[in-house]
Amino acid sequence: MGLLDLGLEGRTVIVTGGAGAIGRAVAEGFAEAGARVAVVDIAAERTAAVAAELGPEHAGFAADLRDIPSLDPLVGRISETLGPVDVLVNIAGIIKRTDNLFTVTEADWDAQHDINLKALFFLSQAVARRMVEEKRGGSIIHYTSQGWMSGGFGGSVVYNASKGGVTTITRGMARSWAPHSIRVNAVAPGLVETPMLVTPETPPESVQALIDSIPMKRLGQPADHAGATVFLASNMAAYITGATLNVSGGFLMY
Ligand SMILES: NC(=O)c1ccc[n+]([C@@H]2O[C@H](COP(=O)([O-])OP(=O)(O)OC[C@H]3O[C@@H](n4cnc5c(N)ncnc54)[C@H](O)[C@@H]3O)[C@@H](O)[C@H]2O)c1
Repeated sequence: MGLLDLGLEGRTVIVTGGAGAIGRAVAEGFAEAGARVAVVDIAAERTAAVAAELGPEHAGFAADLRDIPSLDPLVGRISETLGPVDVLVNIAGIIKRTDNLFTVTEADWDAQHDINLKALFFLSQAVARRMVEEKRGGSIIHYTSQGWMSGGFGGSVVYNASKGGVTTITRGMARSWAPHSIRVNAVAPGLVETPMLVTPETPPESVQALIDSIPMKRLGQPADHAGATVFLASNMAAYITGATLNVSGGFLMY
């Protein structure tokens, strides 16, 4: 095995949120590395479109990952279609911003934690259970956010609490499953130019203020995350587990 052999050729990779901005770029990255990609997303049309663009050796699975009892059968269907799962990338997530902490509702809390944290946990459980039973090992990568560390501000605190949970779960799963050769890591994006952060309605001066807050003086792009994620899943990261990889142009440094 050469240093630059990623070891992803012919591997089966699930990318949740694969029809979203970052998820799509990550799915493209794994396809380029020779893996078979299962694009999983609640947006059925976009899921089918991304899978079709990737090519015939890939497949799309429209699914609401908040439906916990459906997750194990979903992993079963993916394995039957593309082969046993080697890599799971949990990117699906939402943010609900409110002006301040006092206007956060219980529904806001549940909506964010149900997909960002609960679904991520139980999908990982379903995938890892099969990796352990089949003695295959594998790699799981969770998407957190810089807010895992900063705590965010105002109404985004609830979102960031879910992402803090993601970072904690990354470490706990990494420690628990290391004896089964399952590595678990996280990617922490910073300020990424996707509809989650910037919309056509966002005033230019607000976008500039975001750029000014980043030492590298540009917003992150979805493609910036593909390399970091493929790296963590690859042979090059064979001895890395429990890590949170900061992909933020220096927005925070840790
Ligand atoms: N954009 C940023 O600045 C930023 C910063 C830090 C972290 N992140 C994280 O990166 C990830 C991707 O963000 P993005 O900007 O690409 O967002 P995005 O909205 O483009 O993608 C998220 C995807 O998740 C899917 N999804 C939502 N709920 C789902 C559910 N119940 N079941 C299945 N799929 C569901 C959506 O349909 C969407 O395609 C998220 O976890 C987000 O929290 C983004």
